[in-house]
Amino acid sequence: MKIFVSTKIPQVGIELLKSRGYSVTANQERRRISEDEVIANCKDKDALLYASSTRLTEKFFKQCAHLKIVALMSAGYDHIAIDMARRYGVPVSNVSDALNKATADVAFLLMLTVSRNAFQSSQRINRNEWSFSFPTENLGVELYGKTLGVFGLGSIGYEMAKKARMMYDMPIIYHNRSPRHSVADTLDARYVDFDTLLEESDVLSVHANLTDQTRERFNRAAFRKMKPTAIFINTARGGLHNEPDLIEALNKKEIWGAGLDVTNPEPMQADNPLLAMPNVCVLPHIGSATVETRNAMANTAARNIIAALSGEKIPHQITD
Ligand code: DGY
Repeated sequence: MKIFVSTKIPQVGIELLKSRGYSVTANQERRRISEDEVIANCKDKDALLYASSTRLTEKFFKQCAHLKIVALMSAGYDHIAIDMARRYGVPVSNVSDALNKATADVAFLLMLTVSRNAFQSSQRINRNEWSFSFPTENLGVELYGKTLGVFGLGSIGYEMAKKARMMYDMPIIYHNRSPRHSVADTLDARYVDFDTLLEESDVLSVHANLTDQTRERFNRAAFRKMKPTAIFINTARGGLHNEPDLIEALNKKEIWGAGLDVTNPEPMQADNPLLAMPNVCVLPHIGSATVETRNAMANTAARNIIAALSGEKIPHQITD
């Protein structure tokens, strides 16, 4: 069996595949691979381990319908034409649970960083701007008892809510397509409609998948309904918020601050106005970027391939 790995991944994943006697070809080029290159490399392969962000469209699935699996090394699959995968009969898997804690850590980190202006304060020292300040300056806001709103109480949203509850006793409200009582009840989390989520959240943290229903859900109309003291956090996908509208909301002080681990497009350009804003912290999509989590993601992707090539049930097959 032959496997193509679209970019450099932790060696544990490669070793696991090789231990099964598979032949593994891993692209090592430090640049984004194109769809045509993925197709060319998959022509004579049985499986694809896909850790790249290039969109795989109908073109790919039509020409690579012979693949027994496309195993993503990501939780998100908005870059994959799942309907086409289904039409051409190619199973697609993700690594759904491997990155929950690490990604929630980054959401929590952004919440703290923005609430205390920590990132921009540190940048000021780099610019040699640490000088006299009045006791009324450099003030952040505290999180104790403030309300956390979660948009998308899935596994990552749950981890974020759990931390916020434990550390700061934050009441939790959430909005999903439908209530998740079994999970929410353990946190006393209250299900609310979207407008109430906007109106009542002191910190609003986004954890939903990017779909046609969620794309740019956080736009001018949404930001206008939020508190002027609110902090907006997005560690899910940049496409969930409208960036010009977010910039406008921050400029007009319709919200207080924002912490983003995801942008649209990625990478963000260095002259983006968000990078110069005092209450904003932007990170380069590092939600899952820890040694432990990236190893777990590579391992899970490899296990999905082994299952598919052995004719077994694929543990993390995407079914929607
Ligand atoms: C995911 O797995 O979807 C993450 O965003 C990638 O780090």
